[in-house]
Amino acid sequence: MTDLNPLGTLVSTDEFASCCSGEVSGEITHAHLNSITEAVRHRYGALATTAAERALSSDKASDTFYTEGQRNVLTDETAGASAGCGNPVGIADAKPGETVLDLGSGGGIDCFIAAREVGHTGHVIGIDMTPEMLTLARDNAEKLRTNNVVFKLGHIESIPQSDNSVDLVISNCVIALSEKKSRVFSEIFRILKPGGRFVISDVVTEKPLPGDVRKSAAEWVDCVGGAAVMSEYIEMIADAGFLDVEVLEKQTRSSGAEAWRDLLINLTVRAFKKV
Ligand SMILES: C[S@@+](CC[C@H](N)C(=O)[O-])C[C@H]1O[C@@H](n2cnc3c(N)ncnc32)[C@H](O)[C@@H]1O
Repeated sequence: MTDLNPLGTLVSTDEFASCCSGEVSGEITHAHLNSITEAVRHRYGALATTAAERALSSDKASDTFYTEGQRNVLTDETAGASAGCGNPVGIADAKPGETVLDLGSGGGIDCFIAAREVGHTGHVIGIDMTPEMLTLARDNAEKLRTNNVVFKLGHIESIPQSDNSVDLVISNCVIALSEKKSRVFSEIFRILKPGGRFVISDVVTEKPLPGDVRKSAAEWVDCVGGAAVMSEYIEMIADAGFLDVEVLEKQTRSSGAEAWRDLLINLTVRAFKKV
């Protein structure tokens, strides 16, 4: 790695060896801008370590997307770390005995809800690349005395899970953070059993976002800069081999100051692997 990025814009992870900083703060510095992966890890590491404080705020994702019944069975820290853009597990209809895998599990919110649905004969696996999130999720599991959930360190582009072993993949506001979305969908296809399905909530866009937004570190780590155009996102899913791709929810996000924010959509989509 020879170059820092003086513009404060992001460059592809592929173009730089990743750097490492042990420091965790809410602010993204140039040292974190050498790769998208590092900037994302830094951001969510900071979020994990402030989950208890965030639990007190009234604009958490858990307040927006989850029912009171779902929220009531979580720890405050799980709710405080919630950073999704939908409620995929709420509409995924997980069944007793199923194996569910959550990509980018964060503080574990969707895993803990799924754990109650699959029951003691089922299993839930959360995958996340941010060590602080894993620590938080494991602490939450202990507090909740959950014994059918495991959290594993890993990347959604190379999922640490064997082929044909999962009934249901869920994910909540994570694939927008990846530079390799096609690869993520191929990996989901690989690990699903024949007849298995995914239900994913994510941020997509109606049309391409302006170039400076796509390169902005702050927008990328907020699941905005890397958001794919919705038609291309659906095409990637079909290209990975999935059948019966269905948009279950599509909600335009409330607009902000800039006109391009009206292009952003919270999408929940389901698809199946052939039996
Ligand atoms: C926006 S948060 C969502 C967390 C959780 N799904 C929720 O709804 O609260 C994104 C999470 O995905 C993780 N993540 C981002 N990119 C990842 C990748 N390429 N591989 C594994 N985890 C990733 C981050 O560490 C973070 O915990």
